[in-house]
Amino acid sequence: MEVIIFKDQQTASKKISAFIKAKLQKKKGLVLGMATGKTPLNLYEELIKKYEKGMMDFKDVSTFNLDEYYGLNSEDKNSYCYYMRENLLKKINIDQENCHIPNANSQDVPAHCLQYEQKIREKGGIDIQILGIGSEGHIGFNEPASSLVSRTRMKTLTQQTIKDNSIYFDDKKSVPIHVITMGLGTIMEAKEILLMAFGDSKSEAILNTVEGPLTSMVPASILQMHPKATIVLDEKAAKQLKRREYYQWVYNNRPSWQIGI
Ligand code: F6R
Repeated sequence: MEVIIFKDQQTASKKISAFIKAKLQKKKGLVLGMATGKTPLNLYEELIKKYEKGMMDFKDVSTFNLDEYYGLNSEDKNSYCYYMRENLLKKINIDQENCHIPNANSQDVPAHCLQYEQKIREKGGIDIQILGIGSEGHIGFNEPASSLVSRTRMKTLTQQTIKDNSIYFDDKKSVPIHVITMGLGTIMEAKEILLMAFGDSKSEAILNTVEGPLTSMVPASILQMHPKATIVLDEKAAKQLKRREYYQWVYNNRPSWQIGI
């Protein structure tokens, strides 16, 4: 696990977008795992800027989103379909056929989840999975006590997540309770993982993820088992880490051949 601490979200997002650009130059048909929420918004803006300047071509890129609220249709302003369309997909030259989000209206959820995983496999797996983190340590919507080897499935949100996410809903009581989410086992199959966290409210989850024990009570702690997971933070999210000086030392002394963020 590599931990990188930048002074703020803007700097971190610029660095990550440059990293994705470098990866895209090496592989035109990059497969990206996407997150929603406020954490990746800056990153998506940076990717759009690079596309508009002719620095990135998304023609052959595929995307797979982590999750979707169950029951919301794709026109609903709170659906992750809508979020992705408005914040990234309609602003770049990606083929909409290559953009995948769990179907929130599926009548046969288990069959749909199997198909979702099958589509990821058909694309050769996810090259880079972008993650945010919940205040209780969820990734995707794998809430505490999720199986560490779980696959894409329906989950019930915790009351804390419902409260955290209600800030995006006009009617605070209308946050769906159920979601379809990639599982921890699904996420762990990505070749590379970038987890981003910004702000004080994420510092405890980050402490538990990076320096705590591996436990399903902090689902993101499974990333300790991933061979290529990078945790990208701002100062605030990093503030509780005990070994932050070491992480900065490692970053400042990276071998010149290492392609990183
Ligand atoms: C969203 C997702 C979630 C969020 C997390 C943080 O697709 O999978 O795990 O990344 O809840 O949300 P924000 O970024 O809004 O703090």
